[in-house]
Amino acid sequence: MIDPNFFSFELQTKLLFGTDSLKSLKNELKSFGNTLLIVAQKKMEEMGYLKRVADQLIEDDFHLFFWSTIHDNPIVSDVDDAVKSLNSKKFDAIVALGGGSTMDVAKALSVTACTGGSAWDYVYSTAKRTVEHTIPVIAIPTTSGTGSHMTKYSVLTNPQEGIKSTIVSEEIFPKVAIVDPTLTVSLPQYMTAVTGFDALSHAVESYVCINANRMTDMICEKAIQTIAKALPQVINNLNDLILREDMAWADTLAGLGIAYSGTTLPHAMGQPISGRYPKIRHGETLAAIYPSIVRFSYPGKVEKFDRIIRWIAEGIKMEIENIDADLASKVFSEFQKRIGLSIHLSDFGLEEKDINGLINPTLKCGDVYTNPVVATEQDIIELFKFSL
Ligand SMILES: [Fe+2]
Repeated sequence: MIDPNFFSFELQTKLLFGTDSLKSLKNELKSFGNTLLIVAQKKMEEMGYLKRVADQLIEDDFHLFFWSTIHDNPIVSDVDDAVKSLNSKKFDAIVALGGGSTMDVAKALSVTACTGGSAWDYVYSTAKRTVEHTIPVIAIPTTSGTGSHMTKYSVLTNPQEGIKSTIVSEEIFPKVAIVDPTLTVSLPQYMTAVTGFDALSHAVESYVCINANRMTDMICEKAIQTIAKALPQVINNLNDLILREDMAWADTLAGLGIAYSGTTLPHAMGQPISGRYPKIRHGETLAAIYPSIVRFSYPGKVEKFDRIIRWIAEGIKMEIENIDADLASKVFSEFQKRIGLSIHLSDFGLEEKDINGLINPTLKCGDVYTNPVVATEQDIIELFKFSL
């Protein structure tokens, strides 16, 4: 009989973590080759980060090419245009410098450059093509939120269809992740909160997911405890490198959580929102729907939610006793208030009539069915209504 608690775990990404770890980039690249595509938004140049990368490489025999067209919720053409404009097959490696959007574009590009077609052919909702070969990706995150440097996912938006979908493949784990917290100190207060809340969501969802295992539990517990303490502090101490390092570490752990367990209902409901309304950031969609989903999901994993709620309450020094679904929801609301993320979907102009368009794409997402309580269509309608 198969042990229901059986799991396997093999780290696919070489991790270099710590202050000034960026200085190791040149050394890491030597094993891949010297023709490199650097994927980075224009602001990386303005912030001086691109120079920190390029300066290491220019003096040696590296041939550098650049791609910077990357929307904040990246769209399919960000990838497809790069493949058309660049002779992408010639790259020995792709260096992704930026947040989740940049890393998602780099991963999708690493697939499409090798086997052709459109990046949209490879997402799970179309599944027209399977990922076979990729160009190695070296991920250098500049936010602490998406965990994309440790995952096998690339999330893209198709603006024509108004939906988001994901390429899921073991082949797109970055080969190397260089996590240097000094690259996150410039992130403004609001973006620190938005991205940090995404990381918290990853850790919470992977912890309560029906696919969780002993390894992901251990990883997610540490991530939740760390974010609960560090995030409310770092948003008022943006230059504190120790807090930034804590957030970078928690983001890395939470990324592993989603890679080896998975996200649940909040991500299933959040993706269609920013698919249809791309100006709403991923972390904002999560913040808007989280308190009501926590209340809904609580009965499915009471012990784990009780632990989560105690850690979060401790992080914001909130006195609590007798945890139940309502209190769990209130603690999330209070945490979000402390980090400036008390958000409702109506803040972005959404009304009850807009909910209808979000239901089908939510139901098509596998994350609905890994939630500790599986939501019906009517539940999802009610949850969106609560979040308005
Ligand atoms: Fe996320």
